[in-house]
Amino acid sequence: MTKKLFIKTYGCQMNVYDTVRMGDVMAPLGYSLADSVEGADLVILNTCHIREKAEEKVYSELGRIRQEKEKKAAEGSRMLIADGGCVGQAEGEEIIKRAPFVDIVLGPQSYHQLPEMVTRATREKGGVVELEFPTVQKFDLLPESSAPQGSAAFLSVQEGCDKFCSFCVVPYTRGAEYSRKPEKVIAEARRMVDQGSVEIMLLGQNVNAYHGEGVGGRNWSLADLIDALARIDGLHRIRYMTSHPRDMSDDLIAIHGSEPKLMPYLHLPIQSGSDEILKRMNRKHTVDFYLDIIDRLRKARPDMAFSSDFIVGFPGEGEKDFEGSMQVVEKVGYASAYSFKYSPRPGTPAAVDDKQVPEEVKDERLMRLQELIRNKQTSFNESCIGRVMPVLLDRDGKLEGQLLGKSPYMQSVHVKNAGEYRGQFVDVKITGAYLNSLAGEVVGIQDNINFRKAV
Ligand code: SAH
Ligand code: SF4
Ligand code: F3S
Repeated sequence: MTKKLFIKTYGCQMNVYDTVRMGDVMAPLGYSLADSVEGADLVILNTCHIREKAEEKVYSELGRIRQEKEKKAAEGSRMLIADGGCVGQAEGEEIIKRAPFVDIVLGPQSYHQLPEMVTRATREKGGVVELEFPTVQKFDLLPESSAPQGSAAFLSVQEGCDKFCSFCVVPYTRGAEYSRKPEKVIAEARRMVDQGSVEIMLLGQNVNAYHGEGVGGRNWSLADLIDALARIDGLHRIRYMTSHPRDMSDDLIAIHGSEPKLMPYLHLPIQSGSDEILKRMNRKHTVDFYLDIIDRLRKARPDMAFSSDFIVGFPGEGEKDFEGSMQVVEKVGYASAYSFKYSPRPGTPAAVDDKQVPEEVKDERLMRLQELIRNKQTSFNESCIGRVMPVLLDRDGKLEGQLLGKSPYMQSVHVKNAGEYRGQFVDVKITGAYLNSLAGEVVGIQDNINFRKAV
């Protein structure tokens, strides 16, 4: 008998990958994925702890799921609720104290043990909590097969972080830095391509710190891995995120110039445009160091585009420091960028800093920064008008016959009356630019690309 599994995902792409894998872990036990919580036998919240808001969302969602659980109980059957992901890891037993109807608490490093936890939770009362960072890596214990992800797939190659930026919970929720073995990554990428994926995003909290141990003990860098993956027939686009400026090694910069399958777009967070604040953040790089990497990447690949993350109102941030962040946005001319108000996180050094910035100052700075970022994003999009770029039209647009796809620079491109090109890589001439997307028309088809099962 099949059982219904509903997983709700919050946070970063690594959680999106983990959600797919949790589905893979539970499939052999007869669980199939459902798209709503109603009537589900098992509900997993795959949560994010990065900012306070992300954490609050989880508790309000739990309240809603509780009602569904009660409804199901009234019908005489049981719904198990699992709180997984980074909030699970960070809060542990506290979750069950606050929400006693939660049956299972687990972290991002223990979800391969889900079947066993589900069995225990069915038998035992009081909640099952599993938060160890097991010595055997979960990746080695996950099923070989995986559900198809469609034309663009996420693939985690690195996990955890040893950088300990003073604002960040990731080193505590994901644990120490770990790189998967290259042969495992390559095998998984091949499977993804066999299942119809043509683009792979390599993931890691610090993906460019990748240092996988290959056959014979050889140490593989991320550039080595990209080089090997690029040889897979049928894989047409490779991306990676998130990178730390300190780990942008020479070989990684160089491969942007030599490997056409590696897309000319990089998410490279700087966090602040002030050396003083970067020091307080324990980022271990300066503004000039960062700008030099951008220059070198543009030399290697002149059409390279960038995005970044910024934190505003970090403890001790004065107006001049903030202006530094504005200047970085001006200088780099980002294609897009994310910006957040500093959110003090329990257990991190910056949370107890006595130079906290008042909320209204953070609000005002965030508004200014976001306006500038929007301007830069629009300018970047406008600079694309007239260019022809390859786009995989893999999604339906809102209008009849309209299709959507991603440009090499991660912009959404929509094309009208394109029904016949569904699932194909086409050359699109850009005719219109907006804040969050481009419009264009098909001017050619990319040759020799056979999409077996593109959806
Ligand atoms: N590993 C990546 C980012 C991981 S978290 C890196 O090193 O850049 C994603 C983003 O969330 C960060 O880049 C940062 O901008 C933001 N972030 C992390 N902790 C935060 C906090 N306490 N308050 C506000 N934003 C935060
Ligand atoms: Fe967090 Fe810093 Fe590690 Fe990124 S590098 S995950 S911001 S501690
Ligand atoms: Fe959030 Fe954990 Fe990712 S805290 S950003 S889900 S690593």
